[in-house]
Amino acid sequence: MNEAINSRRSIRRYQPDKPVTREQLKQLMTAAMLAPSAKNSRPWEFIAVTKRELLDEIANIHPYAQMCRTATAAIVVVAVPQGKELEGYFSQDCGAATQNILLEAVDMGLGACWCGVFPRKERIPEIAKLFDIVEPKIPFAVIAVGVADETPKQRGFYDETKVSFVE
Ligand SMILES: Cc1cc2nc3c(=O)[nH]c(=O)nc-3n(C[C@H](O)[C@H](O)[C@H](O)COP(=O)(O)O)c2cc1C
Repeated sequence: MNEAINSRRSIRRYQPDKPVTREQLKQLMTAAMLAPSAKNSRPWEFIAVTKRELLDEIANIHPYAQMCRTATAAIVVVAVPQGKELEGYFSQDCGAATQNILLEAVDMGLGACWCGVFPRKERIPEIAKLFDIVEPKIPFAVIAVGVADETPKQRGFYDETKVSFVE
């Protein structure tokens, strides 16, 4: 089993004095942009945030992003819908990009947590306003990033009841 897949957990407590560097953020966003996307449309943009006030403001806006108070960085994944032909696909593409960031973070010794924004109608406008994201672009997710201050045990598991083989 791939080690990052095997050990990844959502990290909700970070060491607040351990910064995430620009180089590290670039590596995470490189991983994101290596994700597959429908028709290779790559319907995404990324905003890398390290400004303390903005990280705190994310937590003020998003009730389930309180970990941003100790995270030293966040990446806002912004969806850029590609029109009628690819309607409905951007969430899958941005989800794949988001997961790539989570797995790359593990590989780099960092922790991360996916905080959903899209499709929650009450969250989209507030995050959009905070980061000047203008329609048709849509804030898809905020990913908290930092050096973990907790080591949660593996949670996922192989569930026979969810699997069938057709042979
Ligand atoms: C679409 C999506 C949205 C999520 N939103 C949040 C969130 O807003 N806040 C949070 O703390 N965790 C969020 N999570 C993380 C899940 O709670 C977490 O993945 C799940 O409980 C399994 O735990 P694990 O990631 O540690 O394996 C989200 C995960 C996904 C895939």
